[in-house]
Amino acid sequence: MITDYGLLIDLHKQGHRQGPGREAETEKAINLATIDRTAPVKIADIGCGTGASALVLAKCLNAKIMMVDFLQDFLSVLKEKAENMEVADRISTYNIGFEKGVADWRRYLKTGGLLVVSEITWMTDSLPWELQDHWIANIPKLMSPLPKDRC
Ligand SMILES: C[S@@+](CC[C@H](N)C(=O)[O-])C[C@H]1O[C@@H](n2cnc3c(N)ncnc32)[C@H](O)[C@@H]1O
Repeated sequence: MITDYGLLIDLHKQGHRQGPGREAETEKAINLATIDRTAPVKIADIGCGTGASALVLAKCLNAKIMMVDFLQDFLSVLKEKAENMEVADRISTYNIGFEKGVADWRRYLKTGGLLVVSEITWMTDSLPWELQDHWIANIPKLMSPLPKDRC
């Protein structure tokens, strides 16, 4: 029997991305970071999902990219996409725990290197109470301050 967790994975692995943003935002981040698109760079995408951002980086930059996610299902979808886009030779995948990843990332960043982070963001003041309760229980900081309305 499939668990709730399994259902969530199944739902999200079919999505184009698992977080906010579009290809245009990844392009914008490349421009803001003033990365030379022809110079060889190494990138780690930590929490890469099925590769929405990292595959754009693989396409646009002369990059070797380490894709990290704790869900093997996402990494498998990502690998298939990379092969279809013919950028598979530019990526490798790895699976790490979040706490360890956050604690360890800094020492992998070279001098002048950049850490680019995206996080879920509310675009509304009105959020269904079921969602509020879920996020308060799981990521309380995300819900501070609380939305104005409980609907
Ligand atoms: C909000 S999604 C963003 C995915 C992708 N970067 C995007 O923009 O579409 C966060 C990702 O982090 C991954 N993740 C969460 N906890 C993790 C952990 N402990 N170790 C590695 N990956 C983790 C999830 O599986 C998920 O794919």
